[in-house]
Amino acid sequence: MGRICADLDGDIVDYNLIQKVLFTEDEIGSRVKELGGEIAAYYKENYGEKEISIVMILKGGFIFLADLIRSIDHPLTVDFMAISSYESGSKDTGIVRLTMDLTSSIKGKNVLVVEDIIDTGLTLGYIVKVLGEKGPNSIQICTLLDRIKNRIADLPVRFRGFEIDSYFVVGYGLDFRQRWRNLPFICTLKEEAFALEE
Ligand code: IMP
Ligand code: MG
Repeated sequence: MGRICADLDGDIVDYNLIQKVLFTEDEIGSRVKELGGEIAAYYKENYGEKEISIVMILKGGFIFLADLIRSIDHPLTVDFMAISSYESGSKDTGIVRLTMDLTSSIKGKNVLVVEDIIDTGLTLGYIVKVLGEKGPNSIQICTLLDRIKNRIADLPVRFRGFEIDSYFVVGYGLDFRQRWRNLPFICTLKEEAFALEE
């Protein structure tokens, strides 16, 4: 835990619930910079100076997005969508309710969907379908974390930060019940953390 605590000046109690740091702040930082370079190169090669229309699904990806766009040396715009999963049934279908739609048109645009983590891919599969109906020129996917093993929906992920195994992770924007998003690293939590009341 020494490595973790050295970075922190906050609530020690919460940090006792951290099980293992999977990606440190530095590791994430360098990978995000690389991804930004890959994205800029890809769009330059395929679409010249035409701008990238970045779409982020709130909320988990907001920290990743903030770092990522500063590493993309290419013209771009950013827009957001918010969704809420249906209480039941949505796990299998990926059908979710849009609670906030894009504020500008993506017709004819080159859309890059930025996600924090893809698990089954059902949620994103549905979103890509909804975006596709808005008539963009292209849609690509960029995710920080990819749990490829759990994939159900067939999603073409062009830009991927890290592949991870089945464990649940928090930090760097990712939450468990809306908490832990502010950790600068990505980690797993001890069992006790999941047992805490909301
Ligand atoms: P999917 O539809 O199964 O791909 O679910 C993906 C969504 O589930 C992500 O956008 C996250 O909001 C959430 N999620 C999946 N795994 C984790 C995790 O390990 N930590 C936090 N959120 C997760
Ligand atoms: Mg998400």
